[in-house]
Amino acid sequence: MSPRNSYLDRVVCHCLQVGEATLDALAEEAPFHSVEDVVQRSGAGDGCTACRRRLCEFVSASTSGA
Ligand code: FES
Repeated sequence: MSPRNSYLDRVVCHCLQVGEATLDALAEEAPFHSVEDVVQRSGAGDGCTACRRRLCEFVSASTSGA
């Protein structure tokens, strides 16, 4: 998974304003092991929780090495 350009960053979590580039960068530092891991490390998903299904995709991609 390669980092995306910040100016093209798409917001994943609207409550906390966390974008794909931030999540990709964190996943490259260390793979996400669970949605709670994503929440703790990025802050995403710590509001209304509507984005948590999307965060699961980052966990799957992170653990599969995609
Ligand atoms: S959109 Fe992520 S917590 Fe609300």
